Amino acid sequence: MQNMVILISGGGSNMMALVAAAQKNNWADRYQARICAVISNNPDAKGLSWAKDQGLSTHVVNHKDFLLQAEPRRAFDQALQQCIDVYQPSLVLLAGFMRILTPEFVGHYHDRLINIHPSLLPTFPGLHTHERAIEAGFKFAGATVHKVTNELDHGPILAQAVVPVLPSDTGQTLAARVLTQEHIIYPQAVEQMIKQPSANV
Ligand code: GRF
Repeated sequence: MQNMVILISGGGSNMMALVAAAQKNNWADRYQARICAVISNNPDAKGLSWAKDQGLSTHVVNHKDFLLQAEPRRAFDQALQQCIDVYQPSLVLLAGFMRILTPEFVGHYHDRLINIHPSLLPTFPGLHTHERAIEAGFKFAGATVHKVTNELDHGPILAQAVVPVLPSDTGQTLAARVLTQEHIIYPQAVEQMIKQPSANV
């Protein structure tokens, strides 16, 4: 069985798209792959209750609980890793997970850690991607699914989708257009990986 764990921080619409694709395309029977758990650093993440309603295991590892530690980031990542590894996942899927991860964490999940980023990487890593694309006068924007490496929002690209930037666009309207594409390409990229697990390393 190929286990998958999803990490979220907020609304979790990408998580919902992944869970829906797993059900619709019958990942369990076709690829012996299942989404086991959803973990959030944010106890108020809206996606958590949705995941629970779907019968998925949910966990909170709150980064704020580690702020008084000598090395808060490392302590948080270690606790997160422990929580994830209970499921022995072959893939860990970041879906709107808004934490920068330590090299130790990234190294532990080498080739198994996937992210979706709302820009056409390598342009616009980091935050406020849509506003930056509009500000720079870009005519196209998009989203990227990629393997996670130690450089923020870099790493081998697995899938991309392109959308036009319209003259009337605000950050919000562009974000909404990009998000609809995220919901398509993230499940597609994951399905590609679970279809050929041996090609993932
Ligand atoms: C998405 O654009 C995702 O790529 C970004 O955060 C946004 C919200 O995602 N990192 P979600 O609805 O929580 O999946």
